This record gives sequence, structure tokens and C-alpha cells, in this order.
Amino acid sequence: MERRAKIVKTDQNSPSAEYLEEAAEIIRSGGLVVFPTETVYGLGASAFSSEACLKIFQAKNRPPDNPLIVHVSSFEMLFDVVDCVPADLIQKLRQVWPGPVTILFNRSSRISDTVTGGSGRVAVRMPDNVLALSLIDRSGVPIAAPSANISTRPSISDSRYAIEELGDRVDYIFDCGPTILGIESTIIDASGDIPVLLRAGSKSVEELRKIFGDIQVTDVSRGLVESPVAITPGMKYRHYAPKKTLILANSRETFVALSAEERFKDTVTLIGSSEACEMAKIPCISLGSEDELQEVASSIFSSFRELEKTGSRIGIIMPFPEKGLGLAIMNRIRKASSGIIENVSELQNLIGQLPLPDGRGLFREE
Ligand code: TXA
Ligand code: MG
Repeated sequence: MERRAKIVKTDQNSPSAEYLEEAAEIIRSGGLVVFPTETVYGLGASAFSSEACLKIFQAKNRPPDNPLIVHVSSFEMLFDVVDCVPADLIQKLRQVWPGPVTILFNRSSRISDTVTGGSGRVAVRMPDNVLALSLIDRSGVPIAAPSANISTRPSISDSRYAIEELGDRVDYIFDCGPTILGIESTIIDASGDIPVLLRAGSKSVEELRKIFGDIQVTDVSRGLVESPVAITPGMKYRHYAPKKTLILANSRETFVALSAEERFKDTVTLIGSSEACEMAKIPCISLGSEDELQEVASSIFSSFRELEKTGSRIGIIMPFPEKGLGLAIMNRIRKASSGIIENVSELQNLIGQLPLPDGRGLFREE
């Protein structure tokens, strides 16, 4: 599977026409292209080619039943991908697209089982990114793209991590630096009477309720529990896990108390808001101000990868209120962590038990 990607630097708001044409040709001929969206980087292939989409699963080590999101650049293209859309849903979509919202539809005959994981439904979104939209347009086909990370690893919101992780697994990488939003799209199933949130994401539920009316939010979409029946296949897989143990502090107060314990400075790296990091006596990766959750969202995935590069044995992360973007932020934090601690002595005990076995066995509900 060894491939050596061509890596090109260009501005995601005004991309080079030459590079776009090269990448579009790769998509048309069945290859793999890593490109920025407004949320995270995507690993794309032609959604109309089952063979090309199979390569995505190989490159990511992704289980074959975990389906792909199809990205379109226009409503005309949406109609090639889906089988009949209610007029009132189109009306609502016009208010959120292009943007970080993914909706489930009945698929058209042009979308294969490879894309949908065998399901009759296809997830679609129109990304709000000039480069992504132009790439889809020039390719002339919708682009199926999961997040551009190896399966179970943190998603990628900065191209330098895409180059590290996928440089020898894909054909082409757009090196455009950080993405704008940093957390993936919100996924909703709008087919029932009350739309259901399948994954919290960059568009907050509060904002979506203004357009879609009531939306059902479950503990599964908060990342608190695993789904007993996987409503969306992604729910049953381990996610976002850094290679170093990450533990969630049960409250901001616990986090601040831990951050004063200088004796942990060689063992622990903290991940918290800039306000909390400022007071810390141990190394702290700042996620930005806690009053600006968009800052926190854009740095969360990179912070997991920065933690891996430190010499610390363990990371401790601060919780955020689950309002607005905080819902998606806490979902990603819970899924990436392997446990919760409540006080300094629990941290001391935990360090004694390192390295911890992989998996989420230590996680307990708040
Ligand atoms: O922001 C995003 O959504 C990014 C960018 C690249 O667009 N994409 C992304 O894709 O996060 P991925 O594959 O990492 O996550 C897609 C999620 C998975 O949990 C998958 O199970 C679910 O969407 N999904 C995709 N198609 C589905 C379908 N037909 N039915 C139910 N769930 C589906
Ligand atoms: Mg993903």
C-alpha cells in the first residue's frame, strides 16, 4: 500500500488552480487526496467509485462497516447521491449549507455499499471551505471523505499532522495549515418526527434547534456511554485516542488543585484553558480562553497530538461546560480519555499503575 504523497502548500481560501486540477485528476482516476474542510482534514476519494473508496478503508485501517460521509458542492450534486428529499428538508438545508452539518438520506443507486457500510442510508454534507468546494466541483463527482487520521487516532485539524500520519498512504496532500473550526461536523438523522443528534459537532444543537425544531440529545451523543445498538456505526469504535494515557479531571476545581502540585511536573502534562494554565505549576498545553469555546474546539485535536510528543507519562485534561460547542468538546474529550479522577491522591495512585492497559475500562460515568 506504500504510496508517496505529493504535498502542496496553498491558501485554502484562494487555492492554486494548478494544484486543484492535479488533485481533481487523481480523484477522477480513483486515487486518494487529503484536503482541508472547515472542520478537520478529510481523506477523499470519488464517492461513485467503490474501488477508490475501498482504498480509503485500507489507508485508514478503518473497519468496513463504518460508513463514509459524502461531500457535495451543490444541491444538484446532492440529488445524484440521494434518493428523493422532502422539500421542507431542502429548505432547512439551505440555511445550514455550506457548513458543518451532516444529514442522513436514503441513498441513490450510484452510492455503493462500500460508502454506506451496507446501509441503505448515506450521510451527506456540503463543506464551507473554498478549497474543498472547488476540488469537488473540478472533480465533477461527490467526494467521500472520513476524517484524515488513522482509525482510532485523533482527527487532524492541522496539515502537519496529516503529512506525518498519511504521507506514505495517500496520493496527494493539501498542506494548508490549521482548519477554521477544528471539530467535525454535527450529524443528525432528520427522518423521524423529532430529529436525533447522532454526533455532537461544530454546529451547536442550540443553533440547529432554531432551524430543525426540537432535536433529541442522548447520553450517547454526549460521549457518556456507548450505544447499546450502534445507531451510527462510528459510535461503537474507540475514538480519538492519543498514544499517551489521557485522564479527565472531574471538575475545573480538581484540575486547578492538581495543577498546583509541582511534584508531578516531570510526569504529568496538563491540557486546559489559558486561564487555568496560567496558574499551573506543571507543564500545561493551553487550549485558549474558556470564554471562547471556538478557540478550545480548534486546538483540542492538536493538543492530544502535542501531548504525545511530551516526555510526560500521562495527560490530565480539564472539563468544559456542555453548552453550545462545549457539548462536542466534551464528547471528544470523553472519548479520547481512559478515565476520570477526582483528587490528587487518585492521580498519585494512577501514576503508580502506569502504563495502563489500552481501552476504556477505567472510564466511569460522572
Ligand atoms: O466534519 C466532518 O464530518 C469530517 C470532514 C472530513 O467532513 N468527516 C468526518 O468523517 O468526521 P468520519 O468518517 O470521521 O466520521 C463520520 C461519522 C462516523 O461516525 C460514521 O459512522 C457516521 O459518520 N456515518 C457516516 N455515514 C453514515 C451512515 N450512512 N449512517 C450512519 N452513520 C454514518
Ligand atoms: Mg473520524
